Amino acid sequence: MPKALIAGNWKMNGDIATARELAGAIAAGSDAHACDYLVCPPFTALTEVSGVLADSGVLLGAQDCHSAASGAHTGDVSVGMLTDIGCHYVIVGHSERRSDHGESNALVKSKAAAALKGGLSVIICVGESESERESGTALATVERQVVGSLPETSNSTNTVIAYEPVWAIGTGKVPTTAQISEMHLHISSVLENEMSDSDAASTRLLYGGSVNPENATEILRCSRVNGALVGGASLKAESFLAIGQSCP
Ligand code: PGA
Repeated sequence: MPKALIAGNWKMNGDIATARELAGAIAAGSDAHACDYLVCPPFTALTEVSGVLADSGVLLGAQDCHSAASGAHTGDVSVGMLTDIGCHYVIVGHSERRSDHGESNALVKSKAAAALKGGLSVIICVGESESERESGTALATVERQVVGSLPETSNSTNTVIAYEPVWAIGTGKVPTTAQISEMHLHISSVLENEMSDSDAASTRLLYGGSVNPENATEILRCSRVNGALVGGASLKAESFLAIGQSCP
């Protein structure tokens, strides 16, 4: 079993002062646990949080990147800019990017490839909508997203897949443990066609969508769940660390 990763996606929340306080509390409370911690603040707080986390063992990630190294891309942030301020990871293809910004699997793949080339690790997000779940096409949808978004250069040390059903994000609704296990085992078998057997078996698969300290224990025990991508509950150090302490 790969070591669990508990990743906090702070989304578009907080200012510098709250980011500093939250990162400091996570750094102070994180060292004794049997998982890796990663926080992904907004771009504007990355430099500050990078300083707070220095030498703490808590990893730093961004929430998006551009696929180009530099150039005329107003408002975008390159991989080199992220490594320059100490990022280890970048999230790509979050469902909010896919829906708010029309990001396709091909675009997500190009961002992930650029991130890997530039020395970042990636969390590639996938997940079905509520109507896809209801119409029985969830497995096929997620399979298409994984195959379409995964760069050829992905391996188990530079890539993490986060399964986040769109209907579970920020809603308090969570799939059954049977549904989570079924999807994670499916993603694991899809990876066998895309990577070497050993990489497919050891690539970390995170579950995301309304994870909180109350439901974390049972979610983190589902088949082939190797951690969590946490939104709302990552904005309080106490609940974020409690999710980490729930890792088996
Ligand atoms: P949530 O968000 O934990 O608030 O549901 C998860 C995510 O979008 O990564």
